[in-house]
Amino acid sequence: MNTNFQAQHLFNSSSTDRRLGVLAKHIDPTSSMANTDHSSSTAIISASPTSHPAGGSVFSHVVQAPEDPILGVTVAYNKDPSPVKLNLGVGAYRTEEGKPLVLNVVRHAEQQLVNDRSRVKEYLPIVGLADFNKLSAKLILGADSPAIRENRVTTVQCLSGTGSLRVGGEFLARHYHERSIYIPLPTWGNHPKVFTLAGLSVKTYRYYDPKTRGLDFQGLLEDLGSAPSGAVVLLHACAHNPTGVDPTPQQWEQIRQLMRSKALLPFFDSAYQGFASGSLDTDAQSVRMFVADGGECLVAQSYAKNMGLYGERVGALSIVCRAADVASRVESQLKLVIRPMYSNPPIHGASIVATILKDRNLFHEWTIELKAMAERIISMRKQLFDALRTRGTPGDWSHIIKQIGMFTFTGLNKEQVAFMTKEYHIYMTSDGRISMAGLSSRTVPHLADAIHAAVTRFS
Ligand SMILES: Cc1ncc(COP(=O)(O)O)c(C=O)c1O
Repeated sequence: MNTNFQAQHLFNSSSTDRRLGVLAKHIDPTSSMANTDHSSSTAIISASPTSHPAGGSVFSHVVQAPEDPILGVTVAYNKDPSPVKLNLGVGAYRTEEGKPLVLNVVRHAEQQLVNDRSRVKEYLPIVGLADFNKLSAKLILGADSPAIRENRVTTVQCLSGTGSLRVGGEFLARHYHERSIYIPLPTWGNHPKVFTLAGLSVKTYRYYDPKTRGLDFQGLLEDLGSAPSGAVVLLHACAHNPTGVDPTPQQWEQIRQLMRSKALLPFFDSAYQGFASGSLDTDAQSVRMFVADGGECLVAQSYAKNMGLYGERVGALSIVCRAADVASRVESQLKLVIRPMYSNPPIHGASIVATILKDRNLFHEWTIELKAMAERIISMRKQLFDALRTRGTPGDWSHIIKQIGMFTFTGLNKEQVAFMTKEYHIYMTSDGRISMAGLSSRTVPHLADAIHAAVTRFS
């Protein structure tokens, strides 16, 4: 295990820390997750920039890059003219009618913002909107968090979850003594790319056991137990993507004890707070457990899923430190990471979030809509499970109702997935991950028929 995802450096300037990583080997272009198969070589940076032939393009040597493994599923879906086609690839919420959803509470907040003629479009500070940062820290760490009270937390607004991970990764690469970051196997496919290009050395720890379709807890403890002291560990705060498998509170406690005993640094990725259980507090428990012991950690938050603000790119990076003066110096360095990257973050999405978080009524309205989204997903799990049982589909499908959050890791293999796409026009990543949020009562029977046929044919 502990596969090392090293970037191959295209060139290194001897005097500057100039990173142009070539992620040529480790990404399977059709899987949603990090892959250890180093044989699937997929060049994403062209071989050699040569001088251009007369009249030709200076970019003629540029090779065609592969589609993003997750977003590429939507590209293929869009090209399919079938009326029964179904996109279960992308992790975006859909209504029962299969439509994208703008939350009512977001519409209300936007209306308030538009009506406020005193609002201007000036640049935000490098660290973003102050209210948004304070409220985001409170949302994830808890309103009564001693770390916030003691000013030991620095929070900066970033470009959604991805941007928060990237800024956190770059900060660690510059200022933290240990360059290794351990990510779960499997994990969201963008994790290894984000951290490698941030300058960290990506390794994996065992997480999922295909035999039980549950957590490989022993493997996880062994791998983290043998990680070098001080290594960074990426943890999904809840609703692990792609597996939908989370540790129990007791297992989290064991993970915490092990990590603290080895001085491993937790970096939480919280992309689904409130989306997993329907409760913002329940879904933040893992993070709060680590912060409660007084130790340090990083947290990347995204409002893409839980407020449906996908394209607004709203997120936050919080770094919890042991002391207020450290947090303040850390913030000064985060600014140096952000300024040359995108100067300062956009204002609109963060203003929507801040408007909702600071108004008691809007906040309440949000929690109700969030719970409704989470419950619809949970009900899709139940309906799919029942539909497979009714059809007598071979296999134990109880993992569909045991897993949590947006995705089900079905256990379907590549061949079965390809069959379902070809014969049933159902689109998903090749690792068999399906977005439950893309399903509806109307489409469950079609999916169940497809799974039944695929499993019966290729077992
Ligand atoms: C585990 C995980 N982390 C982070 C993200 C980042 O999402 P965004 O950058 O859209 O907030 C996602 C999105 O799918 C995710 O699943």
